[in-house]
Amino acid sequence: MKNILDFARAKREAQPIVVVTAYDALMARLVAASEVDAILVGDSAAMVVHGYPSTVHATITMMGTHTAAVRRGAPATLPFLSVRQGRDGAVRDAGVLVQAGATAVKIEGVAGHEDIIAHLVQSGIPVMGHLGLTPQSVNQFGGHRLQGTSPEAAARARKEAEMLERLGAFALVLECVPAALATEISRERAIPVIGIGAGAGTDGQVLVLSDLLGLDPTFKPRFARRYMDGHEAVTGALNQFVHDVRAARFPAREEVLA
Ligand code: KIV
Repeated sequence: MKNILDFARAKREAQPIVVVTAYDALMARLVAASEVDAILVGDSAAMVVHGYPSTVHATITMMGTHTAAVRRGAPATLPFLSVRQGRDGAVRDAGVLVQAGATAVKIEGVAGHEDIIAHLVQSGIPVMGHLGLTPQSVNQFGGHRLQGTSPEAAARARKEAEMLERLGAFALVLECVPAALATEISRERAIPVIGIGAGAGTDGQVLVLSDLLGLDPTFKPRFARRYMDGHEAVTGALNQFVHDVRAARFPAREEVLA
């Protein structure tokens, strides 16, 4: 994908949109070498990279640094940034992230952020919405739980998706909602809906890269599929190095300089 118009085209042509997170240049380069459509420089960086218990610890400085690194690693891939909630700082923060190399910004929730979203869109900064389980509000939800399960909550999610589209968002991440609700919202909306833990009926899927690569054996959400056992592969390689050093098999003659 080259720009956000490709999202609309993908939806029109029923081409599933594939997004993964990345937070540094090395991983971004790997993603850019794959067929993945776009990179989300998510504030999940606070948990995955910085070891915090939730994304509420992400700061704009942190996200700006990750964005710039991803942009250097993947100059031609589309990075999307998470912008912290908060009326006053959001527009300034979005500017910081776009200057760091983001193509667009992702904003969690819509109620109370209508003016921010509309303002960003009108200022030429593309906005991706995020509904369902919005991790910045995890404490309000009482943990990482399935959202939109009651008829009232489902109706609210549908209304918010409609509102986001009306405000000019070009796409929407829908996280941890029942598959039937996600499918309904995807069918109702003209903008693409990218699901995570939202079943198979959305217009695309996003996964956190470390979940997909199986890098953390202690964290395996049921909705995430591990495409490799990265933890086993990496610790195996490290132990091989240890054994080689201890057995005087490393460095070999050809690895010795001069
Ligand atoms: O911001 C983020 O990191 C996300 C991922 C959970 C997909 O939305």
